[in-house]
Amino acid sequence: KTIGLLFGGRSAEHEVSKLSAANVLRALDPDRYDIVPIGIGRDGRWLLCDNGNGGGRGAKSLEIPEGAPQVALLPGGAGDMIVLNGEAGAKTLRLDAVVPVLHGPNGEDGTVQGLLELANVPYVGSGVMGSAAGMDKDVAKRLLRDSGLPVVPFLTLTPRSRIDYRAAVEALGTHDLFVKPANMGSSVGVSRATSAEEFERACERAFRYDGKVLVERSVTGAREIECSVLEDAAGSVKASPLGEIVPASSHGFYSYDAKYIDADGALLRIPAELPAGQADRLRELAIETFRVLGCEGLARVDFFVDPKNESDLFINEVNTLPGFTAISMYPKLWEAGGLPQSELMEVLIGHAIA
Ligand code: DAL
Ligand code: MG
Repeated sequence: KTIGLLFGGRSAEHEVSKLSAANVLRALDPDRYDIVPIGIGRDGRWLLCDNGNGGGRGAKSLEIPEGAPQVALLPGGAGDMIVLNGEAGAKTLRLDAVVPVLHGPNGEDGTVQGLLELANVPYVGSGVMGSAAGMDKDVAKRLLRDSGLPVVPFLTLTPRSRIDYRAAVEALGTHDLFVKPANMGSSVGVSRATSAEEFERACERAFRYDGKVLVERSVTGAREIECSVLEDAAGSVKASPLGEIVPASSHGFYSYDAKYIDADGALLRIPAELPAGQADRLRELAIETFRVLGCEGLARVDFFVDPKNESDLFINEVNTLPGFTAISMYPKLWEAGGLPQSELMEVLIGHAIA
């Protein structure tokens, strides 16, 4: 089978995607698959990065070489992709399935999934609706809340409905707030605000990434617990063991820098130490979240757990194309659950082409 590996992309998580893609490439069995890495530049062009299985394997980050030939997927073409080879002219290449290793807007949000639908090519992960619902934290939280699932109380602001710190504090009942762009990942544009001044700065920052911004009550001292969800070819959905993120105190929260820049920015504790009943409840909630948002294939569901009150569990967010870097929670949790990454990729591709 010929597998297109889509990475890079136009979002602020471009670099993270390149790290994830290198790790996914390593986990794909070269004896089973012809792997075609396709890099999406920051300008949105699709470029054929290496026509074969050797290149990029073992690298920490998959790169998009200068001058790589541009490619385009054909609508209705059953995975036919045109490769524009400059003076050599065009040729076509047929993809049997695509693994989108893209994070954030224009990749994890249903846009690329729509293109893959039109191209008639199977792909790993959620479809248009599940991707879109998962990407937009405002939409996701409304759907989860509407299904009776626990989410952290939040307000949604647009440039026309901005409010000041006092009003936000009054509405959410605490001085300790988080401000985030509705559509973004890896904590890009996220800040904590505990004063009017910080709140204004946090809003400015978040609005730089999105026209919609969430203000959430901070769950003080909350533990951050994550669960990987996987659907197999038969449609059975499973939740992995749980992992805990312990951000270094110097970072305060699990920020972009704590995730990817500072090697000691956070510690992953797998499995998370939790009372058995609570762990079961979280794994159940992860699967319910997956179903409510219409996810397919895979997702990582992130929770806040109040250490002072065991029954206080909150779904923080869902990631329909979670990080797949060498240090990422999604593959690590499955490894802890007895599924090495190469087998994980088999399940994901199996579900895509089922
Ligand atoms: N958005 C990043 C990649 C994650 O959730 O892991
Ligand atoms: Mg995320």
